[in-house]
Amino acid sequence: MTMLIKVDPLKPAEDVLRKAADLIREGGVVAFPTETVYGLGADCFNISAVLKIFQIKKRPADNPLIVHICDREQLKDLIDQDYQKASTVMDTFWPGPVTLIFRKKPVVPKEVTGGLETVAVRMPSHPVAYKLLKLSGTPIAAPSANLSGRPSPTRAEHVIEDLYGLVDAIVDGGETPFGIESTIMDFSRERPILLRPGPATIEEIQKLIPNLEIPEFLLKKVNEPVRPLSPGMAYRHYAPEKPLILVINENRLDEILLKYPDAPVICPQEMITRFYGRRTIVLGTLKEPFTIAQNLFHVLRTVDSVATKVAIAVGFEPKGILFSVMNRLRKAASEIIE
Ligand code: TXA
Ligand code: MG
Repeated sequence: MTMLIKVDPLKPAEDVLRKAADLIREGGVVAFPTETVYGLGADCFNISAVLKIFQIKKRPADNPLIVHICDREQLKDLIDQDYQKASTVMDTFWPGPVTLIFRKKPVVPKEVTGGLETVAVRMPSHPVAYKLLKLSGTPIAAPSANLSGRPSPTRAEHVIEDLYGLVDAIVDGGETPFGIESTIMDFSRERPILLRPGPATIEEIQKLIPNLEIPEFLLKKVNEPVRPLSPGMAYRHYAPEKPLILVINENRLDEILLKYPDAPVICPQEMITRFYGRRTIVLGTLKEPFTIAQNLFHVLRTVDSVATKVAIAVGFEPKGILFSVMNRLRKAASEIIE
């Protein structure tokens, strides 16, 4: 049975959240909102609870989970290295949408880290996630609360769609503010490297960490590395069930529109007049690019419910948050026109 727990996202009542925290402490699996997307959490030191996450999501065992914490003391319990190199990033972005990878202590179960000697850690800022961590009294291992291969959930309804009946509880805290998953940086190596762009923009983090390595495939039009830098890269992500054609080269847009006369177009508010007479799905406005990130996964889920065979998405100039949005759109696309 899945318990549905509705909370005020800004001021979650402690007695209500305590039910979810009790489930975590008893080895249960609970979906909860964070400032990025919903997570599916379990006590990170309880191996059978952690294994349930993999089973429920149908997630490959070698794809590691992010461990969520609520203070730096918990960080020290998990990692086996000096985190000085990451301290400016931590001071700036924690609590917040940034995940950092460090060498792990032996107490962190290998089931959590997919067999790796490193662990990904994040201190979320969402009041519900923060309070749940406080009340649970343990770090919580949590991937995004979707079935493997589905877009990440940004609303409780998305979690219900994918996981109702499979998890012990779903904490409904409304829509998640950022709407895309955290920025991930690996600090376990000599030189820090960006593994996944997210809400902390590439420009901001480069300013904080001048020697941050940005992998080629994130910057250029090259395929992802044959040997993935992060296990998650090896799996297709965020994909709608329907083919999605991402048009980056605007000169070829008319040709694609002609080829698929019935396909809906996913685009920003500013472009809808260009597709007069055709179904458009508005992502947000270019004036507030964060609205585009916030709606992205909901729109990708919507595509599957629209009665057409294909959908077309218009690309964005990869700057600021739209750099991260383009990373997700590329992963979701079945074909990229550039
Ligand atoms: O915003 C987020 O990060 C959300 C919320 C719930 O915190 N979580 C999330 O988790 O997106 P997930 O599991 O969907 O994505 C985590 C990514 C995966 O691609 C995984 O391979 C990578 O992080 N990862 C985790 N631990 C790692 C490690 N030790 N080394 C390299 N990559 C790691
Ligand atoms: Mg995920």
